[in-house]
Amino acid sequence: QFTTSSRWRSALLPRTIRQILDAAPETASTTEITVNGWIKSVRRQKAVAFAQLSDGTDLNSRGLQIVFGKPEMAEGLDLGTSVSLVGAIVKSPSKGQSYEFAATSVKILGTCIPEEYPIQKKAHTTEYLREHANFRPRTDEIARMLRLRHAAKRAFEDYYEVNGFTSIQAPVITNNDCEGGGEVFRVLPDQNDPGDGESKESSHFFGNPAYLTVSSQLHLEAFASAFSRVYTLQPAFRAERSHTNRHLSEFWMLEAEMAFVNDLSVIMDVVEASIKHVIRDTAFQETLASDSQRAQLDSMASVPWKRITYTEAVEALRQGLGVDAFEWGQNISVEQERWLADNVGGGQPLFVTNYPTNQKPFYMRVNTDESDTTGSTVACFDLLVPRVGELVGGSLREERVDYLEAALNKHGLPADQYEWYTELRRFGTTPHGGFGLGFERFISWVGGWENVRECIPAPRWKGRCVL
Ligand code: 4AD
Repeated sequence: QFTTSSRWRSALLPRTIRQILDAAPETASTTEITVNGWIKSVRRQKAVAFAQLSDGTDLNSRGLQIVFGKPEMAEGLDLGTSVSLVGAIVKSPSKGQSYEFAATSVKILGTCIPEEYPIQKKAHTTEYLREHANFRPRTDEIARMLRLRHAAKRAFEDYYEVNGFTSIQAPVITNNDCEGGGEVFRVLPDQNDPGDGESKESSHFFGNPAYLTVSSQLHLEAFASAFSRVYTLQPAFRAERSHTNRHLSEFWMLEAEMAFVNDLSVIMDVVEASIKHVIRDTAFQETLASDSQRAQLDSMASVPWKRITYTEAVEALRQGLGVDAFEWGQNISVEQERWLADNVGGGQPLFVTNYPTNQKPFYMRVNTDESDTTGSTVACFDLLVPRVGELVGGSLREERVDYLEAALNKHGLPADQYEWYTELRRFGTTPHGGFGLGFERFISWVGGWENVRECIPAPRWKGRCVL
C-alpha cells in the first residue's frame, strides 16, 4: 500500500527525521532506530536532558525533540554538533509535537566549538549571515527559503509538464547579448593559461568573443522552432552595477517559449496560470511561514489579474501622481511599478502591455495592426507585483525577417552575430512568443523576503563572490 511514509522510504540511506516522523504511527516504541542530525539547542535538567535535533528535512526546522534519560548523555552536545543517536520514537507528553525520540546511545560525529561557531543562538542580521553563506542554510529562515525554492521549482515544472512543454537546457556561454543592455560578462581563459602556442590572445579562445548568457530566450526560440513549447529554469548573468534589493549578478530565470501563438494575451494566460498553479500547490503551501501568508496568496490566486496598456498606465500615473509627473515614452520607475500594482492592480499582480518600441529590446514584435499602426509600440508585457515590482517580462517575437533586420540595424547590432537567429525566420518561421520570470524575485514576493540576496543559495553581487 502506498502511504506518505513509503513515499519517503529508501532502503539505501539512513532514514531522515521527516521519514522517521512520517512512519512514527507505525513504529512508535517498538523499533530501535538511528537518527542523525545537528544539534539546534540543549536543555539540561537535574534528572533528564532535552535537545532539538535537525537534519533539514523536518518542515519547520524546529526538528525532533530528543530526550536523554541521564543529563550526562548530553555532554558535549553544543549547538551545531553533528550526532548519530540510537533509540526509539515515542509519544510525546509535551505540547506542540506528537512524537519525540528517546535516545539510548549518543555518538558525536563532529564537534562544534561554541566560541568559534559563527551561528549562535541569538538572532543574526541578514548582512551577517550573507558573510557566512556556508552556514546560512542551518538557520530557520534560509532553510525555509531553500525548501520554498525547491517546492516552487517542482510545482512550476509540474505545470509545464502537464501542459506539454519540453524542458531544454540552453548554453551558458553564448556569442551575444540577448537583451542588448551591455551588462554581459565576457568569458576569457585565465591570464595564466599557457595557451596552445598559436595565439596568446585570450579573446580568440572560441574564435569570436563569448559571454555568459543574460537570458536563454534566443536559444529557446530555436528549440521552440522544433519542439513548439519549451521551457528552462537556469542561471542568467548580468554585470549589474547598482545595489538594489532585486538585482543579482547571477540569478535564475524561468523562461518559456511557444510557437504558433500570435496573441499576446495567450502568453499572459500561461504566466498567470502557471504562477497560480504554484501558489495552490500543497507541497509549496507547506513551506510558507504562516496561515496569513497562505491566505494572502490564496486571494491572489482566486481573482483574474488586471491587464492595462502602457498608455493606460501613463494616464493612471498622471492622474494619481500629478499631470506633470509622467510623459508618454518615459520609463516607469520601480516606485511607480509598485504604485501601479497597489493602486491600479488593487494590491494584486498587474500586467502592463504594449510599451514604447524605444524602451524595449530588438526582438519584440512591432505592433502594426489596428491597435497601433505607427510602429511606436511593441507587443510585450511586464507583470508587476506588489512590493517587488517587475517579476516577469514577455512578448511576441518579431517573426518577420524584414522587420527583424530593421530592428537589429536600428539597435546597432551586428547582423553576423545574430545570423543564426535571423535564419530561424527564413526557414519555417512561426508566430511565437514567450517570457522570463525572475526566480529570486518570485521567491522574494511569495516568501516575504525583502531582498533577493536572501532568496538564492549563494548570492553574488558587485563586490561579492565567495562560497
Ligand atoms: O525583463 P528581462 O530582462 O527579460 C529577459 O531577459 C527576456 N529575454 C526573458 C524572456 O522573455 N525569455 O528579465 C526577465 C526577468 C525580470 O522580470 C526579473 O524578474 C528578472 O528576470 N531579472 C533579474 N532578477 C535578479 N537579478 C537581476 N539582475 C535580474 N534581471 C532581470
